[in-house]
Amino acid sequence: MIVTTKQLFAAAYGKYAIGAYNINNLEQTMGLFRGCMDSQAAFIIQISKGARSFTHKAMLEGLIRAADQVFPEAVFAVHLDHGDEAACMDCIASGFYSSVMIDASGEPFEKNIEITKRVVDAAHARGIVIEAELGQLGGVEEHVKVDEANAKLTDPGQAKEFVKLTGCDSLACAIGTSHGAFKFSGSQGLHFEVLVEIQKRLPGFPLVMHGSSSVPQEEVARINAAGGSLKGAKGVNEDEFARAATLGVTKVNIDTDGRLVWTRVHREFFRDFPEKFDLRDPGKIFMAEYAKFIAHKNEKLGSAGHLEEVRKLV
Ligand code: G3H
Ligand code: 13P
Ligand code: ZN
Repeated sequence: MIVTTKQLFAAAYGKYAIGAYNINNLEQTMGLFRGCMDSQAAFIIQISKGARSFTHKAMLEGLIRAADQVFPEAVFAVHLDHGDEAACMDCIASGFYSSVMIDASGEPFEKNIEITKRVVDAAHARGIVIEAELGQLGGVEEHVKVDEANAKLTDPGQAKEFVKLTGCDSLACAIGTSHGAFKFSGSQGLHFEVLVEIQKRLPGFPLVMHGSSSVPQEEVARINAAGGSLKGAKGVNEDEFARAATLGVTKVNIDTDGRLVWTRVHREFFRDFPEKFDLRDPGKIFMAEYAKFIAHKNEKLGSAGHLEEVRKLV
């Protein structure tokens, strides 16, 4: 059942966070649904601009509609990840997405408000909810490059004003994370003090943590042992999700970790079975491993085991 992120946030706020997982293909979609069913968790499927153009934007929609039939128990939102204004308007018009992220965080404050407000107005007119972003994460995004050293954490005072002026439904905040497999220089970590200040000014308002992959060291070691070269890869401590959730983080975005599972499975498979060439053989292993990974993440986020309760609320 497709619901809005707003409905999921109402069930989870302050207690646990909902996992928001990026998908690009069939195997990820199957692994994601299975993992969420195994752990009895509601979830968010997110599709980036890059994912929409990987094959054709209609392909992932088709996969998700099919998964909704194959897994009738599933409760999830379909979300555009890091949209620009044009992508947001396209998704709003499509009627398929229940939630859309406008990312104008690379723009000056006033311009970010202006763009976000236009998208909010168009979305709300159709019952679609909006995530916006204020502050800049480190690392590389699709259309924004920000040096980690210059990453701008979200200003709590500005966050309150931004939400009031735009009418957005949730806010992605920069609290020290970055996208990709190489996070945190030196001893840096999550800036909980920023979250505390934002929550004080926006009590009850759902916050979103991007760049939340934990980049498991065992995964990195296995990839490197199977011919990969990911030196110094590092991520978020997954044991910190629970504290972030009590401070208002209600959506946690994870993409890179899934790519690491994919890379490990395929590197090891072709190393161990050099004579094989049927794509379904490693594909089956990946779906099972990805489902296991998702179930584990949902445990860490606290969303595991809450599916029935969420279903009654939506
Ligand atoms: O924030 C970025 C997400 O990980 C999506 O990545 O733009 O390469 O699909 P992508
Ligand atoms: P990771 O690169 O840490 O998985 O972050 C994903 C993300 O923020 C998607 O919007
Ligand atoms: Zn992101």
